[in-house]
Amino acid sequence: NYIKAFAPATVANVACGFDIFGFAVDEPGDVVEIYRRDEPGIVIADITGDEGRLPRDPLRNAVTVVMLRLLDHLKIFDFGCEVILHKNMPLGSGMGSSAASAVAGIFALNELLGQPLTRQQLLPFAMEGERIACGSAHADNVGPSLMGGFLVIRSYQPLDVFRITVPENLYCTLVNPDIEVNTKDARFILRNEVSLKNAISQMGNVAGLIAGLMQEDYDLISRSMVDVIVEPIRAILIPEFNEVKQAAIAQGALGCSISGAGPSMFTLSKGRETAERVGKAMQQKFAEAEIDSKIYVSAI
Ligand code: HSE
Repeated sequence: NYIKAFAPATVANVACGFDIFGFAVDEPGDVVEIYRRDEPGIVIADITGDEGRLPRDPLRNAVTVVMLRLLDHLKIFDFGCEVILHKNMPLGSGMGSSAASAVAGIFALNELLGQPLTRQQLLPFAMEGERIACGSAHADNVGPSLMGGFLVIRSYQPLDVFRITVPENLYCTLVNPDIEVNTKDARFILRNEVSLKNAISQMGNVAGLIAGLMQEDYDLISRSMVDVIVEPIRAILIPEFNEVKQAAIAQGALGCSISGAGPSMFTLSKGRETAERVGKAMQQKFAEAEIDSKIYVSAI
């Protein structure tokens, strides 16, 4: 009658794979607790850590909306529960904050109901949470948050998702500066058309990154962590973007780009020690511009 679920932050896009690549990290993450109650209906009992910014109305909060959709789909009309959301991640951070909340919620509900659906089957519901949070039902945060590892969304219609292996010694450094970028805005500023020249570069890098990860070819990973389509436009939303990126590369990161829609930035490195050193150098660059930041290092 009680379930507590944790869902991790995620790095979406991974440089060249806008809306199609994403991986989960160890921390941070959001936690959802749900308690069964006798009366039907879903009630938000509490939200911690959001400074009162998220809607308390279950019909407007992404976590409870996806739960209600799942109940509808399963034609369960007499179920009732109280939900507590522990928002451990800042909003608009580029670390898949809204995705982690929706995933923790839908996962907890599915557990409480006795696992009627598999994780894969829960994915479209979690994607609906993204539509509510930012207007677009992308899967590159909710997918890896729900399923773990490094995920590729090969197609959205129909939804076709698979996981690839990554080298054991591959570490992610995620640096979250204390500024906020609204995902909806960060999508709005993108162009709808891509030149053939840029499409060719990007396809080469997407193919190279997948092969590099699966074959443990760190040089190929490094050469492929290039985004010629989205990063050049979004970089302007992040103060000190170029300086932070250069500092990361100078300390031995394989590559550095924007995490999701930003402002967090991520790198991939060979080995934990390098990943930690890279994080400190990036934090230092933000600090020089008087921007506080948090560092998270995890194996992928
Ligand atoms: N792929 C999405 C984007 C992720 O870059 O807009 C948002 O977190």
